[in-house]
Amino acid sequence: MAASGVPRPLVVANWKMNGLRRDGIDRARALAGLARAKGHGPCDIALCPPATLLVELRAALDGSEIALGAQDCHATESGAHTGDLAAPMLADVGCRYVIVGHSERRAGHGETDEAVRSKALAALRAGLVPIVCVGESEAERGRGDGVKVVRGQLDRALPEGVAADALVIAYEPIWAIGTGRTPQAGEIVALHAMIREACAARFSGGTAALRVLYGGSVNARNAAEILALDGVNGALVGGASLDAVGFWTICEAAGRHVAAAPGR
Ligand code: PGA
Repeated sequence: MAASGVPRPLVVANWKMNGLRRDGIDRARALAGLARAKGHGPCDIALCPPATLLVELRAALDGSEIALGAQDCHATESGAHTGDLAAPMLADVGCRYVIVGHSERRAGHGETDEAVRSKALAALRAGLVPIVCVGESEAERGRGDGVKVVRGQLDRALPEGVAADALVIAYEPIWAIGTGRTPQAGEIVALHAMIREACAARFSGGTAALRVLYGGSVNARNAAEILALDGVNGALVGGASLDAVGFWTICEAAGRHVAAAPGR
């Protein structure tokens, strides 16, 4: 927890399927250089590159305090699962976080909430912090079902009885991902409040330490406004994380907000 009584914000770069070795290492080094030169401030930062870059990025990030994360894991520890990566393998190469249930995996790989829950549990068993993604589609939002859909995803996908700081939730409206569109500030605040309230019964010890991130078209221009919203404890950043300087601006916005609002 930050001194202000709210959890330390977390800003996560999700590079998705972007970056060959040379680009990825250069970008990670640039980011680590900014972190070393300017210091982290009251903000945690994680970098989730393609799995091919995990090992080399661990070295590139050394000494910067930027954590490493993966974009997915399998629900079991080992076995005949061609092409998959188990959570202990990710921990073994230095990951601290793993994204599970991203809408692109739900859509592209048919992942259900139940599968997402199994992956989150596997991550926890391996000592990783799962970043569990939820969010409604444009059609669901249009029907006025956004809140109901996200609540249902939380009910089915979240493990029970864990400590609130053992996992992270990312609210990512699907229609906002990669589109340049974001919800109104009031909608983000309302959804984050609903998520915190819906989680109250699931965590041992309450939700004070729970981090609920916003994701979907966060960039260097809108980050300060979004990260200042009540109940927003950081961001999951896709496209805008592919530029080290722009991503660092987002991280600084998260840190500035906490430093400037000690009572919140
Ligand atoms: P975006 O992606 O920032 O490019 O919208 C966010 C995400 O999918 O995690």
